[in-house]
Amino acid sequence: MNYGKQIRHKWLLEDGMTFLNNGSFGATPIEVLAVQREWQERLERQPLRFVMRELPVALRSAANQMGEFIGAAGEDIVFVDNATTGVNAVVRSLIGTLQPGDELLTTSHVYNAVRQTMLYVCKVTGAVYKEVEVPFPVQSSGDVLERIKHAITPRTRFAMFDHITSPTGIIFPVKEIVQHCKEHGILVMIDGAHAPGMVDLNVEDIGADWYTGNFHKWLFAPKGCAFLHATKQQQATTHATLISHGYNMGFHAEFDFNGTKDWSSYLSATAGLEFFRQNGGAELRAYNHALTLQARNELLRAVPQQLPAPDDMLGSLAAIVLPVELEEQGDPIKQTTAMHDVLWDKHNIEVPIFPLSGKILLRVAVQCFNELPEYQHCASVLQTMYNSNNA
Ligand SMILES: Cc1ncc(COP(=O)(O)O)c(C=O)c1O
Repeated sequence: MNYGKQIRHKWLLEDGMTFLNNGSFGATPIEVLAVQREWQERLERQPLRFVMRELPVALRSAANQMGEFIGAAGEDIVFVDNATTGVNAVVRSLIGTLQPGDELLTTSHVYNAVRQTMLYVCKVTGAVYKEVEVPFPVQSSGDVLERIKHAITPRTRFAMFDHITSPTGIIFPVKEIVQHCKEHGILVMIDGAHAPGMVDLNVEDIGADWYTGNFHKWLFAPKGCAFLHATKQQQATTHATLISHGYNMGFHAEFDFNGTKDWSSYLSATAGLEFFRQNGGAELRAYNHALTLQARNELLRAVPQQLPAPDDMLGSLAAIVLPVELEEQGDPIKQTTAMHDVLWDKHNIEVPIFPLSGKILLRVAVQCFNELPEYQHCASVLQTMYNSNNA
């Protein structure tokens, strides 16, 4: 397959920019947007027939097809708008089951929206929020697993771990982590926001009580297209955050209809999957991974430092530490946003910069429309900035 510049015309991405952030929101191909538009128009031709008769069948059919791809029975997954929604449904469903002093565990790499949801539920229930520090650079899968094992206590009731971490792009050993949690009777959810399309995903094999993942990030679906998987045992007590007609009427009834909305992104998930397959599937994923390692190496040449993570813990994201101190008094998000803005405003490079555990990280993403010179350009800009102490 031809990737890089040769395939970029399949997206609406502006010419001239160096777009190194597929990770935040994904990028939907023009042909998938066209399928989405068809679904929207189909609804508008006869709204009642569509919503009452056609939608329930089409949604379940899409769930079955997507389930096959992610290693889950279609009946055990529901569509949600995004991973944040999946996480909220599960964590907020714990209210009423938690006692004061019970512990909710995650790691220092957790996505902030997920952290806030867990903090909210702790505030409401009197449970205790715990974050185990996973230092970056990350040493090994074994080290991550050991740190998590040590953080578990007899009061740990629920744990949430990333499949692929947001600020650092690290693939966590989720199967082993889940197995350990299960052996200790802990309910566990995996936040796989980045996993579908980036790694070869088998949700049932991982074995968590819940798993949520986005189709809009790495699987080319339109924005607002994600899934929540729950084991049969958990389905009856997993409630949609938006309570509607289907409350307490089963997993599908709870999630498949919760008020009038635009369902076209869910119904176009299969078009995203089809695009992924037609454009190489495993070959596309391999291109992204190989280019990620090359991109990471370019960045390390420009900003020398210890290897941030073993190669086999990376998929299509890679982060490095920037040689800049976090301001002691200031707001870290303001500081990193200002650094991002310099790269965008002065150099037309779209790349995220995050604070993490007292450090400042820059993270590149690789999607098949990217190519090596884009990362070389970013690396040379960084080299100039840090050599001239101008950041
Ligand atoms: C690990 C992780 N969890 C959750 C999310 C939230 O995804 P969404 O904005 O689709 O809800 C992200 C987004 O980048 C993420 O990286």
